[in-house]
Amino acid sequence: MSWDPSIYLSFDAERTRPAVDLTSRIPTASPRVVIDLGCGPGNSTAILARRWPSTRLIGVDNSAEMLAAAAKSSVRAEWQEADLRDWSASEPASVIFSNAAFQWLDGHAAIFPRLIRSLEPNGVLAIQMPRNFDAPSHVLLREIANDPRWSSKVARFNRTDPVASPAAYYAMLCGDAASLDIWQTEYQHVLDGEDAVFKWVSGTALVPYVAALDGGDRKEFLNVYRERLARAYPRQSNGKTLFPFKRIFIVATR
Ligand SMILES: C[S@@+](CC[C@H](N)C(=O)[O-])C[C@H]1O[C@@H](n2cnc3c(N)ncnc32)[C@H](O)[C@@H]1O
Repeated sequence: MSWDPSIYLSFDAERTRPAVDLTSRIPTASPRVVIDLGCGPGNSTAILARRWPSTRLIGVDNSAEMLAAAAKSSVRAEWQEADLRDWSASEPASVIFSNAAFQWLDGHAAIFPRLIRSLEPNGVLAIQMPRNFDAPSHVLLREIANDPRWSSKVARFNRTDPVASPAAYYAMLCGDAASLDIWQTEYQHVLDGEDAVFKWVSGTALVPYVAALDGGDRKEFLNVYRERLARAYPRQSNGKTLFPFKRIFIVATR
């Protein structure tokens, strides 16, 4: 899957805001090492650097494009290319942080408890994931991907919901965590310009579908999706588009 950091960062403020909100709930005053899993172009790592200016920071991602953008940023961190499916810390970390990455992976019940157990004593696992599987943006994408015109190429990217409920994460993590703080928020993003939601998903959910299509199929697929999104998210009288976006936050202390 090939990410385009510049498209992703076209909604930098909105995408980074949950990282700010998550960081503000981490109780650690002076961590030794903080790791940002799925760091992308370094926008979430920048928030961690601002909170702990003299702490060792490590950003991990499996996208060479994202890591190249991160390395070019002004964020002072070590950047590592690795897949989160089998990543493990080389030494106990003070904080393992992840903003908007683990929704790309299945199997949280195996991964998250393992991450907590790899923390140093009193270490913190802090994770934010979109919980928008049932939002029109995602329902429409799955519906259109099932169209026989291109389903043989893209229907395989339709997943079952990878993100569980707050109660499920509590049950999954309470055995390994001394304390657990879980909450959900629905941001009401106010987006500018034409086809704003289409542009938003072009930087994230749409990426694997577009990569698997070419030529006329790709054009037609995108046209159908763009039109249906515009109907689902109409522009307001001031020209802006309201994009409700639900996210789940987990802060687990070992
Ligand atoms: C939506 S971006 C989040 C970027 C940044 N953390 C932020 O707060 O905006 C998701 C990132 O997760 C990375 N990612 C997705 N699946 C991954 C995997 N299996 N292993 C490592 N990184 C992964 C992608 O490459 C991408 O950079």
